[in-house]
Amino acid sequence: MLEIAENGRTWLLSGPLSSYAVHLTGDDELLHLHWGPRIALADAEALAARPLPDHSSFESPLDGREEYPVEGGPRFVRPALSVRTDERRGTEWGFEAYETEGDELRLRFRDAGAAVTLHYRMRDDVVERWVTLDNQGPAPLELLRADSATWTLPDRDGWRLSQLHGRWAAESRLTQSYLTYGEKVIGSRRGHTGHQHLPWVALDTDATEERGEVYGCALGWSGSWRIAVAQLPDARVQITGGAGHDDSGLLRLAAGESFTTPVFAGLWSDGGFGGASRAWHAYQRTYVIPEADRDRPVLFNSWEATHFDISEERQRALARRAAAIGVELFVVDDGWFGARTGERAGLGDWTPNPDRFPAGLKPLADDVHALGMQFGIWVEPEMVNPDSDLYRAHPDWVQYQTGRKRTELRHQLVLNLAREDVQEYLWERLDTLLTSAPIDYVKWDFNRSFTDAGWPGEAYPQRLWVDHVHALYALLDRLRAAHPGVAFESCSGGGGRIDLGIMSRTDQVWTSDNTDPLDRLSIQHGFSQVHPARVMAAWVTDSPNVQLNGRVSSLRFRFVSAMAGVLGVGGDLTRWTEEELAEARDWVGLYKEIRPLVQHGDLYRLRPPQGGLSAVQYVRGDEAVVLACLQAQRYGEPVPALRLRGLDPTASYECRETGEVHRGAVLLHHGLRTGLHGDLDATVIRLRRI
Ligand code: GLA
Repeated sequence: MLEIAENGRTWLLSGPLSSYAVHLTGDDELLHLHWGPRIALADAEALAARPLPDHSSFESPLDGREEYPVEGGPRFVRPALSVRTDERRGTEWGFEAYETEGDELRLRFRDAGAAVTLHYRMRDDVVERWVTLDNQGPAPLELLRADSATWTLPDRDGWRLSQLHGRWAAESRLTQSYLTYGEKVIGSRRGHTGHQHLPWVALDTDATEERGEVYGCALGWSGSWRIAVAQLPDARVQITGGAGHDDSGLLRLAAGESFTTPVFAGLWSDGGFGGASRAWHAYQRTYVIPEADRDRPVLFNSWEATHFDISEERQRALARRAAAIGVELFVVDDGWFGARTGERAGLGDWTPNPDRFPAGLKPLADDVHALGMQFGIWVEPEMVNPDSDLYRAHPDWVQYQTGRKRTELRHQLVLNLAREDVQEYLWERLDTLLTSAPIDYVKWDFNRSFTDAGWPGEAYPQRLWVDHVHALYALLDRLRAAHPGVAFESCSGGGGRIDLGIMSRTDQVWTSDNTDPLDRLSIQHGFSQVHPARVMAAWVTDSPNVQLNGRVSSLRFRFVSAMAGVLGVGGDLTRWTEEELAEARDWVGLYKEIRPLVQHGDLYRLRPPQGGLSAVQYVRGDEAVVLACLQAQRYGEPVPALRLRGLDPTASYECRETGEVHRGAVLLHHGLRTGLHGDLDATVIRLRRI
């Protein structure tokens, strides 16, 4: 809902529980008024009437209060917008008009030759913000920095920052620290979202898992990005973020050109971290993820089973076993195309390897379909191995600098997707591939960061950072439109490209190359702070763990850990015993029963994965399911009962595992006993209201 004051200078957006308000002063300064619990327009107007504090000649009353601080004039904070022409640097804007379209509010400002429009849209309790810049000429305009939004927090003591940090095979781990004066900057200067930080922050002062105010912001951009959290000299806190890592130039806009920033979404919740996560999840399922109401199938992926050692026969053997345990989608990973028999060759040549698939992918795809499963393949379209037909034909299609070394990582170079010929090549290849065989699913990988982001011959080469992302999005959009039955997974060596931007055009994400079920609990705990289980792919792989650490764990523990997301199986099924396959079939069957709750229900994190007992609970309608994992039982101490959430205290619930009937109030206040003991034990408990 959008309300506008009579004088047309105060705007109030409200969701079911929260409000967001801004005000334009008589001097055309746009001030932030409110972000928090729902308020009335009269409250916003009362806030607007409060005078700005006194200040010395060394301070600016705008700092910490402005809605979108630009460079120039009496401002000393990090600018969200920094532009220059040959004559001037910075912005001195005047208000032009506001517009509304549907539920979107636009505030339009104008500086000499340039229009800056701030966009707002409230979706439930998530405020979506973005900015458009139009160069109205005549001179070219360089965008040094154009953030999507600056978020202003209310005056409070002791702000604490939560963030999700990581690296390859160790993504999205939650860490918290108190802010001090100055700035905390997170981001990526790698050309993709990166494993190092998810583009999300949360700020609170005293929230717990289920109580207290939490402010969160998440950016929808799959290239380099930056979020800066600043505690200013008067202790006020602002968060500013957008595309690009530095302020050294994003794009040059010729007269008549415009740039739209990605969306930076903000959420206020007073339901603690759990309430904030549930609101983020609901927002993404409703507004971001394509067809989120559809179940994601249980998949098998060949990577850990065969690595590059791909043959039709071996894949068929795996497929038969996968089908027998209830898998619904069979994915052939890396190694099916070009000369790709190892890491060193073939990337770029997206035709089936003639020795491995002499009649193309269709025979295998048909067999997989005959087994009752969908068929998927792995691709890494943005890359090329120097040892490939593509690179031999077009050495200038990669990112490179004249006369400099072309840095190889994993023996591969990054294609310059900003080039139209590269875009057309990839479209043609992938469209042909998807037409050549009945392919239902594409795992889209990206296995190295940008290093030599040059574009010889281009007048403003650094535009490729932004253009690459736009080209990727356009290619995905075009392929999805042409092949509407095909689902896409975003992968970047695991979780190196997970953000609201890529999520709006893919069906799920590969959370991490780390498939160790114990490490996964922490990775999934962090991931769930912002993103829903509906997109969080998780595989059961072999024990001892092949990919990472050799940890030995039971099939039970591996399945329960992976069932908290979109279940997959990635072990070498040809080496699993009959007993293991039978057990796996039971787990897959159980997952299919609880899938509607996991993929579409509300998540409650009952206990975090720190040492002992951890558990998540999903609730949907009259049903609940608890997935509990015991890492280690120490000192022979009894394992604590799990206090459940989201149940009706006046109702009774039947446990599907034991047939026992529990009273809701007892489960909520005294907890459910899990029966777990020892090390690496795990269980699934289903409850139904009676
Ligand atoms: C990346 C992915 C893996 C696998 C390999 C194949 O590392 O994250 O799952 O697909 O590439 O090369």
